[in-house]
Amino acid sequence: MLVFARQLLKDRHHTGAILPSSGRLAREMTRALHDHEGRRRVLEVGPGTGPFTKSILRSLRDGDEFHIVELSPLFCRQIERRLIEPFRKRRPGVKIVLHNDPIQTAEVPGAFDFIVCGLPFNNFPPDLVRAIFRRLIGLLAEDGRLTYFEYAGVRVLKSSISNEAVRRRLKQIGMTGLVLKRRHEGTRKLVLGNVPPAIAVSLTRRDVAGSERTG
Ligand SMILES: C[S@@+](CC[C@H](N)C(=O)[O-])C[C@H]1O[C@@H](n2cnc3c(N)ncnc32)[C@H](O)[C@@H]1O
Repeated sequence: MLVFARQLLKDRHHTGAILPSSGRLAREMTRALHDHEGRRRVLEVGPGTGPFTKSILRSLRDGDEFHIVELSPLFCRQIERRLIEPFRKRRPGVKIVLHNDPIQTAEVPGAFDFIVCGLPFNNFPPDLVRAIFRRLIGLLAEDGRLTYFEYAGVRVLKSSISNEAVRRRLKQIGMTGLVLKRRHEGTRKLVLGNVPPAIAVSLTRRDVAGSERTG
């Protein structure tokens, strides 16, 4: 928790949350992984202090491959020391690679069966949001699943107290979500047990031909 607070003070824009996600949200974000049989390639983007990482690690089996992409060196050091190192000792048959890079340029070899994304999209410019989703969908295997989350009602709330430029930006981000939902099969699950309550959005890559465009 202290590490999260330190990073939040240092870089509020990219951290984008007041607290790490809850165990309940982590369960919802990683549910599909736990239900899946056979070998998997998994990517997590923006793990922070690792609430989703812990749940992903619990689901991994020998032969699986797990890539983690995190912008903050502080968060990288924390999850390397507290989660990855101990896991590697226990389960040497699982390949884990931590990339201290932004997802826009990180050299991650696709394709992934599961992508779990914890990025604070509502803080980003719409062009960046579209570029990141394009990259994530491009990294998915056919039938692969991308799960991300957003805080419930946050765009409506923020819009009601913001100026016209912010309202326009948030509207464009909302539109990107709608375009993705139309193009790929998806589900939305409200998780009240999180501060603030959040919606876990899952998309399955079906429309391979059209998936390079996210609006
Ligand atoms: C809202 S926090 C989420 C942390 C964690 N997943 C959770 O739910 O508690 C967003 C995380 O994304 C990271 N991040 C922000 N922009 C990023 C980018 N472009 N590429 C990779 N990580 C990024 C931040 O450093 C931070 O760890």
